[in-house]
Amino acid sequence: MATRAVVLFTLAALTAVCEGCGARSNGSPAEPGSPDFNDLPFPVHLTAQQSKGRKIFEEACASCHGRAGRGDTATTPTVDGRLPDLSDKRYATLTPTELAARFAAAHGESLRSVVTAESTRAALSYLPVLAYPVDAAGSAVRGRELYGRYCSSCHGIHGDGNGPAAVLLDTRPTDFTRDPLVMARDFDALVRDIRDGPGLPHISSMPSWGPVLNPEALADVAAYLPAFTETRPRHR
Ligand code: HEC
Ligand code: HEC
Repeated sequence: MATRAVVLFTLAALTAVCEGCGARSNGSPAEPGSPDFNDLPFPVHLTAQQSKGRKIFEEACASCHGRAGRGDTATTPTVDGRLPDLSDKRYATLTPTELAARFAAAHGESLRSVVTAESTRAALSYLPVLAYPVDAAGSAVRGRELYGRYCSSCHGIHGDGNGPAAVLLDTRPTDFTRDPLVMARDFDALVRDIRDGPGLPHISSMPSWGPVLNPEALADVAAYLPAFTETRPRHR
């Protein structure tokens, strides 16, 4: 474990030195706002209305609700009222009318000066996406942010194992576009590999993420990995 931590932090340091050596080749995390982040595939195909809604949600709602709907933002402590976890699976089962009713009950007319009725409808059409995948734990939208921060340096923004730090490793990072566990959506096995490391301690270059990511985050990042395969579902 100690050795792995050293490897991990050495890599982080090595790749940090490279900061500014070009959008694709630097090893800095692909976080929201960074040039690479938008290139990370989105985990579901969105309708035109949902794409518009995603933009509105991220601009007008995420300051309180968080981009993944978890309510874990810097402004959260200043918000009056308890923020719901919009990534909860039950939101995927609500009809647009039910969602609109909840929105109205919570917000009334208070956001009218910020978003039009039409934009609100679009934002609400996007909400069920935050609960994806409905048949497994974790939020793939949240996982996308975690992947950019913690995984893309080795596994790459295309998930093919060609991240900027991959050249520093003696084992090639797994190519998620053709990984059997990812294609089978075997989330339990993926969570185990991510948490404990898939190989023998001190031999595999894949760090164990258990000390860094809590169980919720592990489920989120595992839920995101199928985004790199060609089997991305179209959201209803
Ligand atoms: C200023 C912070 C803030 C902003 C901005 C904000 N919300 Fe909220 N939202 C809240 C809080 C706090 C609650 C919980 C209110 C309560 O329970 O009384 C809430 C509740 C909700 C609910 C109801 C959830 C439920 O199950 O009852 C929905 C839906 C919702 N917000 C959607 C949105 C959308 C869509 C936007 C952007 C157009 C948005 N919110 C912008 C703070 C915010
Ligand atoms: C320091 C580089 C590095 C980082 C950062 C990294 N990995 Fe890996 N990962 C690897 C390597 C190398 C392998 C191949 C390990 C082996 O074959 O022993 C691997 C293998 C895996 C596997 C095994 C796949 C399988 O199906 O067998 C999974 C899952 C995985 N990584 C997920 C992640 C996730 C999720 C993150 C971010 C939280 C991450 N990795 C971050 C280098 C890395």
